[in-house]
Amino acid sequence: MNSSPVSPGSPEPVVTAADPIRAANRIPTPSAPPPDVLRCAYMELVVTDLQRSRDFYADVLGLVVTEEDGEHVFLRTFEEFIHHNLVLRKGPVAALAAFAYRVRSPEDLDRAVAFYSELGCRVERRPGGFTTGVGDSVRVEDPLGFPIEFFHDVEHVERLAWRYDLYTPGALVRLDHFNQVTPDVPRAVAYMEDLGFRVTEDIEDADGTVYAAWMRRKPTVHDTAMTGGDGPRMHHVAFATHEKHNIIAICDKLGALRMSDCIERGPGRHGVSNAFYLYLRDPDGHRVEIYTQDYYTGDPDNPVVTWDVHDNQRRDWWGNPVVPSWYTDASLVLDLDGNPKPVEARKDSSEMAVTIGADGFSYSRKGEEDLPDWKKGEYKLGAQL
Ligand SMILES: [Fe+2]
Repeated sequence: MNSSPVSPGSPEPVVTAADPIRAANRIPTPSAPPPDVLRCAYMELVVTDLQRSRDFYADVLGLVVTEEDGEHVFLRTFEEFIHHNLVLRKGPVAALAAFAYRVRSPEDLDRAVAFYSELGCRVERRPGGFTTGVGDSVRVEDPLGFPIEFFHDVEHVERLAWRYDLYTPGALVRLDHFNQVTPDVPRAVAYMEDLGFRVTEDIEDADGTVYAAWMRRKPTVHDTAMTGGDGPRMHHVAFATHEKHNIIAICDKLGALRMSDCIERGPGRHGVSNAFYLYLRDPDGHRVEIYTQDYYTGDPDNPVVTWDVHDNQRRDWWGNPVVPSWYTDASLVLDLDGNPKPVEARKDSSEMAVTIGADGFSYSRKGEEDLPDWKKGEYKLGAQL
């Protein structure tokens, strides 16, 4: 436990030496070693109106177009040196086609094939890659139902980090993470730990229910998070800016363009991850997070932070409410044939149900009667733990 003094009424997340999440129905651990995953590298999204989506990601958000044809747009961030961080592919149903991870060596693709074959998953390897700019690649439908790609060979392009003549006030500089919706978070975490990921933070209830977990390979808070809900679905993709003011600039630009309806939640400061954030919805409703300034997690004994689901500062450090759509809405994911995966309902209680009232505003616990009269009915901040 952190023994530093805290202000009265402010809850303190629990800090432990290792992940406290235990799965009741684990996916068996393969005997084959997992591939050595370096980082989340790109996402392939199916969009219904390619030009409209190009306008949003390239013209409004300022991602750099590496290459495009009539069916695809390949986009990257300012500090990226690989071909793309986002592929927009034209298609009939808005959905996620792949979460793609870069692995350390070509041999890690053999490891991915062996690892997922042993799990009984569908595995497809294409020496020429699944997208332009990427070489030998493996795609799998993982045990949670998500389409995951692993690749090493990739075309290098100019890293634009020093091209200040091209920067905009809201420049997106790195792909930071993915976020996935899955019904059973402990089961998902156990499988991801077998794949070599480590938990950095999570949200739990006193009864042991796990609502979400953040997991990393690169030394930041996460490469992906598992969010409890009906799944498999894609919750969001997150791009990093250098500083907080870059996120404010994006809000100001969206206001000036009369596109404030794209802003779903924020800007704000997360409790989990400590990052500054903004959530947007693209023209198909795919959710994009703009994110900056989380912390280093690369030591092997990096402490795990567990938040109480009733802590109103866990998802917004300033106690602002989380809009219900953020909990309920997410994108479909495709199987390797391009068909939407069926969505399985979450059986554990939902985070929204235990923390948000019928009016959509946050509360800490049902039946809490000790609020002062002036605060009853003013639930924006809810009650602290
Ligand atoms: Fe996120």
